[in-house]
Amino acid sequence: MMTKEEELQNRLNLLVQFGGVVSKETHLDKLLEIIAAQVKKILNCDRCTVFILDRHTNELWSKVAQKMQHNEIRMPFNRGIAGEVAATGKTINIRNAYEEAHFNQDIDRLTGYHTKTILAVPLKNVGGHIIGVFEIINKNNGYFNEEDEGILQLLGSLAASAIENAQLYENLSKSQLETIYRLAITAEYRDQQDTAIHLKHISEYSALIAQGMGLPEKEVENLRYASPLHDIGKVGIADAILLKPGKLTAPEYDEMKKHTLYGAKILANAESLLLQIACKVAASHHEKFNGTGYPSKIKGEEISIYARIVSVADVFDALCMPRVYKPKWDPEKARAYIHEESGTSFDPGVVEAFEKVYAGILKIYSITDGKTTIIPGITKEFNRHTY
Ligand code: C2E
Ligand code: SIN
Ligand code: SIN
Ligand code: FE
Repeated sequence: MMTKEEELQNRLNLLVQFGGVVSKETHLDKLLEIIAAQVKKILNCDRCTVFILDRHTNELWSKVAQKMQHNEIRMPFNRGIAGEVAATGKTINIRNAYEEAHFNQDIDRLTGYHTKTILAVPLKNVGGHIIGVFEIINKNNGYFNEEDEGILQLLGSLAASAIENAQLYENLSKSQLETIYRLAITAEYRDQQDTAIHLKHISEYSALIAQGMGLPEKEVENLRYASPLHDIGKVGIADAILLKPGKLTAPEYDEMKKHTLYGAKILANAESLLLQIACKVAASHHEKFNGTGYPSKIKGEEISIYARIVSVADVFDALCMPRVYKPKWDPEKARAYIHEESGTSFDPGVVEAFEKVYAGILKIYSITDGKTTIIPGITKEFNRHTY
């Protein structure tokens, strides 16, 4: 048995730990999972649901566990206990949910769960605005008490600022992505009818490979968003060259190679980290690991890791897609080519990561099968947070 004092100390430790853990995570989905897991531990209850207020649609949304899967649920802002807390800003502590007129049974029905006790507090940002609702459900023994209320409110204020940070970060990425994507499409639509697919492939392959190399999540995301701009410099290439249905002459190819320089120029001196990465990728995605590429003939680690990754993603996809100057290759042949060029064209470390995530790459490729299905926007995933 812990003494009262030890118990208090234990809780204090958990609280401090909570603040440290949640302030580090900037990916909203992960953050919400971490918050729920921690809160269950600290407050000794069976469930924790974080509802986020979507001001555009006036809904509260959340992720709920359902048959081992997390699904998004949405309900109108004024529904349920959570809705009442969001509307009034008051804490609500309930001993038997099914006796409450306001209780919304839909979620239980959906998840096959039985809610009994609920403690719900508003999530307020530093400005005091309500950004969501924090609910804990079914205390492991007895009812939620005043001490639990105090702790949940405290956890709520820590969680709220972490959630807001994550939202800001993701909104920023989303608007940047939209701009980037539009720019990239403008640049490439001339030479490929299936630009949207090629760009989606580049984006997803690059992120997968970066993940396979163990790059930090933030860098993976940055590369996911920056990589579609690799060929932005093609806007500067004349139709007669870019759209030529056959092989390029040597002078034409020299002209074509300038798309790397044009791209670097377009993206030079950007404020945002994303565009700085995009600039490196545009400049160096045709450099080769052994120093025989273009435009600068730099080699090895002189080439930005982002560019070394995109180079593999780009060549693999270019080979697997039809071009005005060549038919598409079978993915296995393209994969073999990537391996042949390991250490000459490509960084062996990147090729190794490519191999590691190849199943994932093939999955993305096979969704579109190198044919010209038009996918609106880049992927649904990029649009998933719509507040
Ligand atoms: P892209 O079509 O997006 O191709 C990107 C890169 O994929 C190429 O860079 C090359 O490394 C690889 N690649 C594509 N097709 C093949 C292929 O059939 N065999 C091999 N071994 N590799 C291939 P690269 O060569 O520096 O070309 C850059 C861009 O220049 C190409 O982008 C394309 O827009 C243009 N281009 C290159 N060769 C020709 C050509 O013969 N005719 C025309 N019209 N355009 C070309
Ligand atoms: C509600 O707020 O009424 C829904 C409670 C739940 O999370 O099941
Ligand atoms: C687009 O601008 O084509 C859509 C970008 C996105 O996925 O949000
Ligand atoms: Fe290129």
